[in-house]
Amino acid sequence: MLPKRRRVRAESPRCIVASSAPPPPPARFPGVAIYLAEPRMGRSRRAFLTRLARSKGFRILDTYSSEVTHVVMEQTSAKEAICWQKNMDAHLPGCPQPVLLDISWFTESMAAGQPVPEEPRHRLEVTQPKKEPPSSVMMPAYACQRPTPLTHHNVTLSEALEILAEAAGFEGNEGRLLSFYRAASVLKSLPCPVTSLSQLQGLPHFGEHSSRVIQELLEHGTCEEVEQVRCSERHQTMKLFTQVFGVGVKTANRWYLEGLRTLEELREQPQRLTQQQKAGLQYYQDLSTPVGRADAEALQQLVEAAVRQTLPGATVTLTGGFRRGKLQGHDVDFLITHPEEGQEVGLLPKVMSHLQSQGLVLYHQYHRSHLDSTHLLRQNYTMDAFERSFCILGLPQSPHAASAGALHPCPTRKAVRVDLVVTPNSQFPFALLGWTGSQLFERELRRFSRQEKGLWLNSHSLFDPERKTFFHATSEEDIFRFLGLKYLPPEQRNA
Ligand code: UTP
Ligand code: MN
Repeated sequence: MLPKRRRVRAESPRCIVASSAPPPPPARFPGVAIYLAEPRMGRSRRAFLTRLARSKGFRILDTYSSEVTHVVMEQTSAKEAICWQKNMDAHLPGCPQPVLLDISWFTESMAAGQPVPEEPRHRLEVTQPKKEPPSSVMMPAYACQRPTPLTHHNVTLSEALEILAEAAGFEGNEGRLLSFYRAASVLKSLPCPVTSLSQLQGLPHFGEHSSRVIQELLEHGTCEEVEQVRCSERHQTMKLFTQVFGVGVKTANRWYLEGLRTLEELREQPQRLTQQQKAGLQYYQDLSTPVGRADAEALQQLVEAAVRQTLPGATVTLTGGFRRGKLQGHDVDFLITHPEEGQEVGLLPKVMSHLQSQGLVLYHQYHRSHLDSTHLLRQNYTMDAFERSFCILGLPQSPHAASAGALHPCPTRKAVRVDLVVTPNSQFPFALLGWTGSQLFERELRRFSRQEKGLWLNSHSLFDPERKTFFHATSEEDIFRFLGLKYLPPEQRNA
């Protein structure tokens, strides 16, 4: 320890001599410019330490400036030190902050004859509340509480988990399906790629299984379980069958268990197929080709023209994945409404016959509205009670596209799955929110409403079961607000 001289000899003649002494030898440690802060040190001790350090080739600055890299203090708490620095920095805005060190760093450096590494024990720092909030705050558990963009940083990882989710769905395991989809969705919300397993710590929905899959992918680039599932006959057949319009998991599973494996085998048994499935098989090639945004917009114009003819003032809104910014989709979803409630009743059959008269309808299945006293409380997340038509429309193709599809059953038309849904104006915001998706986003939103807020949400309404009242909404923003959620635009609902 260096001698400590507490007596202050402010105007010590030695100080005066020192200041008029020849300039100190050039500093030996270029990256280090020390300022000895006086408050508790006292002027004479400061002068003594200055001389000592200079004699050892250290650069000591007499005034605090932007050149200072190390501030040394004695008998000063971290809190006081930071306060002092704030005060000093107010005069030097925008300058890099020097490190605040206790005298122990200085004495050890003097003893070593060179600056010793600054260790935490030397530093005068208050443990700041971490800049980054814990990941549970950054990454809330429900997908509706966080933005999920369309393009993200973890595609390989999320796709792997989604294959396992899909496979769980094929086995009818809903719980497992949701676990994998939720974990995949968390990855989509992350602001950067996951490169090490430690980044998953604290993230919601990462159980042992999902973490193991990610670990394997990070270490080996592939995951054996995922590859086995992906290549299995079971998975491929289930995927093939469920891709057919009108075929759900239950039917696909039954066919699989009966030994069916190909679309040809299905076509050979037309007596077993519904009309919808027959149409699905007939147009399979087109329907399994993604629909582009240009096709969706062309369809919107056709539908709008038909709706205008039938009911002036009615509006057609493109919803589903395209509203979330997707460039491709498996179908095109439209919501139709009229500002004057009641005008929309019975609209769809007229719109359909208009489209039919133009030869645009390849298949359609009409469902009349069954809006009644119970529809507002329905909890099934897909089945709403709106008047709707599931159709396959034949979209006229440009000459170029038509010649490219020479093997097409109808060379000038492309078969596209279209859902038309009619909603009363007062329910439109709920229908829009419900039909914009993504599917996981909707499920999470409804789960959040019920579990966190005690409210029931569906595509018709938001209901408070305690007060037995419905919320009146004129926009999606209203609904987010009622639920105490930050508004997420459609592009951020790609959960
Ligand atoms: P889609 O299945 O069309 O999905 O349902 P998508 O997000 O548009 O994606 P692709 O590109 O077509 O595959 C759109 C939304 O409509 C809701 C779903 O919950 C989903 O969020 N929906 C769909 C219903 O509410 N009812 C239905 O009968 C079908
Ligand atoms: Mn869609």
